Amino acid sequence: MAILPIHLLGSPVLREHAAEVTDFDDALRAFVADMFETMDLAMGVGLAANQVGRATRVAVIDADDHRFAMINPTVSNATGSASADEGCLSIPEAFAEVTRPERITLSAFDEHGAPFTLELDGLAARAVQHEIDHLDGVLFIDHLSMLKKQLLVKRWKKDNKGLGLTRMPTAEESEAKG
Ligand code: NI
Repeated sequence: MAILPIHLLGSPVLREHAAEVTDFDDALRAFVADMFETMDLAMGVGLAANQVGRATRVAVIDADDHRFAMINPTVSNATGSASADEGCLSIPEAFAEVTRPERITLSAFDEHGAPFTLELDGLAARAVQHEIDHLDGVLFIDHLSMLKKQLLVKRWKKDNKGLGLTRMPTAEESEAKG
C-alpha cells in the first residue's frame, strides 16, 4: 500500500469529470486500498479519486458507522435539507456551511464489482454527496454564494502561497473533511 499525494485547489484534475470504471480488477483494489490508507492518515471522512490525481469514478468513505469504497456511485431519493460546516482535503483549513439534501439512497459497486444500495443520512449522506461532487469536478465552495466563494478562495490562496498543486497528507485536526 502507499500514501498518495493529494491535489489542492488549482490543480486541473479537481475540475475533471471522472470516467466510469469498467474493470474491477486487482489494480482497482490496490488503488482503493491506497485511497483508504491516504484518507485515514489525513483523517478525512471521504476521499475521491480526482483528489489523488485520477479522474475515475472511485471514492472511499469513513463517516459515522459507515466505511466503504464506492465505484460508479449514484444518488437517488434525495430528501430534506441540512446545513453544516464542510471542509475538503484539497482545500485544507478552509470551512464553510453547505446546505445539501439530508437523506439519500446511494447505489454503487464495491471494489469487487458487487452492487450495493445504502440509505444514508447525517454525516455519511453529506460525505457521499461531497465525494460524488468531486467525481463531477465540483468542489464544496461551488455551493457557496459567489461573494462567499471569492472571499474564501482569496483568503486560502493568501494563506497557502507556498503550497504547490499537491501535498503529502499528514495527520491533522479531526474536523470533518472530504
Ligand atoms: Ni473534498
